[in-house]
Amino acid sequence: MAERPVAGRPVAGRPVADGSGSIVFRHIGELVTNDPSAGEGPLGVRRQAALVVETGRVAWVGADSVTPQGVGDAVVDVDGRAVVPGFVDSHTHAVFAGDRAPEFAARMAGRPYEAGGISATVEATRNADDHELRATLERLAAEAASTGTTTLECKSGYGLSVEDEARLLRIAGTVTDETTFLGAHMVAPEYMGHPDDYVALVCGEMLDACAPLARWVDVFCERGAFDADQSAEVLRAGTRRGLGARVHANQLAPGPGVRVAVEAGAASADHCTYLREEDVALLAESRTVATLLPACDFSTRAPYPDARRLLDAGVPVALATDCNPGSSYTTNMPLCIALGVRELRMTPEEALAAATAGGARALRRDDIGHLRIGARADVVVLDAPSYLHLAYRPGVQLVAGVWRAGERVGPWQGGPWQGGPWQAR
Ligand code: NIG
Ligand code: FE
Repeated sequence: MAERPVAGRPVAGRPVADGSGSIVFRHIGELVTNDPSAGEGPLGVRRQAALVVETGRVAWVGADSVTPQGVGDAVVDVDGRAVVPGFVDSHTHAVFAGDRAPEFAARMAGRPYEAGGISATVEATRNADDHELRATLERLAAEAASTGTTTLECKSGYGLSVEDEARLLRIAGTVTDETTFLGAHMVAPEYMGHPDDYVALVCGEMLDACAPLARWVDVFCERGAFDADQSAEVLRAGTRRGLGARVHANQLAPGPGVRVAVEAGAASADHCTYLREEDVALLAESRTVATLLPACDFSTRAPYPDARRLLDAGVPVALATDCNPGSSYTTNMPLCIALGVRELRMTPEEALAAATAGGARALRRDDIGHLRIGARADVVVLDAPSYLHLAYRPGVQLVAGVWRAGERVGPWQGGPWQGGPWQAR
């Protein structure tokens, strides 16, 4: 029942859902397209819908009752479940070694989060071989896919030497095209007390080695990491080499991060936990997305950013996991959606948009984050009648099936859904 041939077009001889064939998703109880012209409201919601995928792209969207006949090497009958675009996790540090559970426990016992914990992961990462780093990354990427993530950005930043930063980016590039050079995550231990020398290394030899392996340059602009001038210098050095800019901004305290990001024309200012009015105004006048990372605020017991204030000011907002072993060891985008709704004052509609189209915008991509005709066919089927359940049923694994570019990347049991016969809903 999960996948069966359409009459007249047998599946035989072709791998199903390998991205090259075509698939018809039938009996979709609620389809979120993120295309307002294709359905109701800003999410472009359609009910009792079908969706056709051809060669990894969305080829047709419409009412199930008028599904084109004779298309589709395979049918995926979702039996009334909801379908949403794949989540775009635009901020992770998923290439690392070791874990910092004791640091987490100490925090929960009252110790504050300090950026200094990064050095423990730097040491473990430098000591790990490629095989171990790759195995951890692949485990995390699979974990992310199992909860609906179809695009995963991945930063370096736990190497902090020319060789190790390049090594991390090479490994990250085996699972994603969205690779980010974060040599300016903290001053490397060898350069303690000489931050300007480290910035010179990052802006010179390190970027020479790393820019060809990355799409983006990022910097941790925060007291204890890099100040405004150093951050701007790193971003300039990266953008001169053709990288797009993004910034870790205003995570631990009010500071210059957002201003630096906007002045650099960054695609995204990430964290934004401590914003002043002038930061919100700067973001509102720019193309820079505010990427909020509520799982990090959760795991560091920090206050949550106020998404409502940003949205009301017209700032584009994304939600991402910040997956890393220190401040946010999760790959779970539905958790971020639930926190976005409960703690960041977003509506469920805004939170889903931020986790899909918002993430795409933070990566300056227009082929993902939506299910318009021509989009990459990143399709998530929920064991729920509506996307509302992503926030309404926090902590429950609702992702029943995941396809990326028309290729199935997670389990799909499918079959009749305990939600009842689809026509009745
Ligand atoms: O985004 N803020 C800087 N970097 C990471 C934390 C890294 C760590 O603690 O290992 C973040 O939260
Ligand atoms: Fe981060």
